[in-house]
Amino acid sequence: MINFILNDLNISTDLFPTTVLLDFIRKEKMLTGTKEGCREGDCGACTILLGELVKGTVKYKSVNSCLMPLGDANGKHVVTVEGINQKELSPVQATMVDEGGTQCGFCTPGFVVSMTGYFLNNLSLNPDDAIESLGGNVCRCTGYGGIKRAASDSISIFEDGKSDDRNHLENLISLKFIPIYFHDIKKRLEKISENHKSVDNKSSIVISGGTDLYVQRWESLVSSKGNLISQDKKLAGISKMGKQINIGSATTIEETKSSKLLQKYFPQWDNYLSLFGSLPIRNRATIGGNIVNASPIGDMVNILLALNSTVHLRDGKKKRLILLKNFYKGYKSLDKKKNEIVEKVSFQIPSKNSFFNFEKISKRTYLDIASVNSSIYMELKSGKITTIHISAGGVAPIPLYLNNTCNYLRNKTINTETIKNAAEISSKEISPISDARGSAEYKSLLLRQLLFAHFLKLFPQLVDPEKLL
Ligand SMILES: Cc1cc2nc3c(=O)[nH]c(=O)nc-3n(C[C@H](O)[C@H](O)[C@H](O)COP(=O)(O)OP(=O)(O)OC[C@H]3O[C@@H](n4cnc5c(N)ncnc54)[C@H](O)[C@@H]3O)c2cc1C
Ligand code: FES
Ligand code: FES
Repeated sequence: MINFILNDLNISTDLFPTTVLLDFIRKEKMLTGTKEGCREGDCGACTILLGELVKGTVKYKSVNSCLMPLGDANGKHVVTVEGINQKELSPVQATMVDEGGTQCGFCTPGFVVSMTGYFLNNLSLNPDDAIESLGGNVCRCTGYGGIKRAASDSISIFEDGKSDDRNHLENLISLKFIPIYFHDIKKRLEKISENHKSVDNKSSIVISGGTDLYVQRWESLVSSKGNLISQDKKLAGISKMGKQINIGSATTIEETKSSKLLQKYFPQWDNYLSLFGSLPIRNRATIGGNIVNASPIGDMVNILLALNSTVHLRDGKKKRLILLKNFYKGYKSLDKKKNEIVEKVSFQIPSKNSFFNFEKISKRTYLDIASVNSSIYMELKSGKITTIHISAGGVAPIPLYLNNTCNYLRNKTINTETIKNAAEISSKEISPISDARGSAEYKSLLLRQLLFAHFLKLFPQLVDPEKLL
C-alpha cells in the first residue's frame, strides 16, 4: 500500500507505485486544478508541493507531478492548488488577481503552488528569489509582468520581508498563505511513518527522480512495478571521507546545488547548477539518473567527468568500482550489468593549487539542455599543468573525456599557442552530428570556444584573446 496525505486527506492506495502522480490527482481524485500541459516537465502547469519529514520538520519542495511516480508520495504530504484554497483567496492568489497575473488561467494553479512553496521554504524573502523559484512555470498569456508584481506584493505583506524563524508555519497560517490544517501535518506524517513500511518495489526497472524515464516512456512504466530507489535514504547524501567526496546516487541536483561542502570547494558551484533544468526538475532529478541516462549532453555527468570521478556499482552484496570516463561504451551503452545499480559517485577533494570551470551553451541560457558543454579541472605547479581532466558534451555519442587533449596539455605551460594547439587536438577526438541543436561544424566550433573560455576565465593574464582567433 502507498500511504500519504493529499491536501487534508489521508490516502491509502494499492495502485501501481509507477502510476503517474498527476493522473492519480486528476483522474482518481478528480482534483482538476492541477493541469496537464506538456507532460514533459517543461511547462509547470502540473506543479505540486511535496512535503517530507526532515530532521523533525516538514520540508516542502515544488515538483512536476507529470514526471513523478505515485509510490514516491509514500509517507509524504502532497499539496495541490485545492490544498491551498481557503474561504477567501490566499495573499498569493489575491495578488495574482489584483496584478493581472492571470488571463486564460491554465498556468495559474502551477504559479500559485510554486509561489506558495517559495514562502514555505524561505524565511528571508526578496522578489528576485521569489521570481527565480517560478523558473519552471511557463505562461503563454500574461507577459509575466503581473506575475512578477504579484510575487513582490505577496512579499510586502511580511514586515521587513522576513518571517519569524520559530513560528514560520504559524505565521503563514495566520497570514492565510496556507490553511490551518498544515498545522497538524507533521504529527500526521510521523504517524504514517510509524505505522507503514516503505512501498515494496522490487523490480529490475530502476526509477530514481523519473525526470528522464517519465519523459521517455511513461506509458510502459505505469503497467510495471519499478524499483523506486529514491525511497532508499541510504542512497542519498553528500559526505567527505578523508580526501574524498562521496555523492549518493539518489541525491538530487538541487541538494548538490545547495551543498555547502561542494560550494566550499567550487565557489561557482551554485551558478553552474542554476543552468540545470528548473527548480521542480532539480528537486527530483538525481546524480545517478544523470549518469545512467548517459545523455551525451548531461550536465552533471560532464562536471563529474572533469573531476575524474569513480562510479560505485552494487548488485546485492557484490560491489564494483569503475572510472566514470571508462563507463560509457557507445551511445547509451554502459559498462553496467542488468542488476547493478549505481550506489554513489566519488572524487578527490580538489587540491589547493587547483582550478575548475564549467561552461554550457544552449539555445537559451536557462531551462534548456546544452548544445555543447564542457568542464575542466587542473592542478598547476611552478606554472606547469601537472594534472588535467577535460570533458566535452554534445560532440560524441557519449559524455566524452578528452583523453588526447589532456595528454597534450599535461606538463605544458599555459600560453596562447598551447591553448590553440589543444583546441586543434580536441577537434580530432570528437565526432559531433548535425541535429536540432546545431550542425556538426557549429558544435565543433562551440567546443573550441568553450575550451578558450575555460582558459580565458581561469588565466586571463596568460592568454591573449585577440591571438586565439
Ligand atoms: C524539463 C527537463 C529539463 C532538464 N534539464 C536538464 C539539464 O539542464 N541538464 C541535464 O543534464 N539534464 C536535464 N534533464 C534531464 C534529467 O533531469 C537528468 O538527466 C536527471 O539527472 C535524471 O535523473 P532522474 O533521477 O530523474 O533519472 P530517472 O529518470 O529516474 O532515470 C534515468 C535512467 O537512469 C537509471 N537510473 C537512475 N538511477 C539509477 C541508479 N542509481 N542506478 C542504476 N540506474 C539508475 C534509470 O533506470 C533510467 O534508465 C532535464 C529533464 C527535463 C524533463
Ligand atoms: S504537464 Fe508540463 S510540466 Fe508537467
Ligand atoms: S494565463 Fe494563460 S497560460 Fe498563463
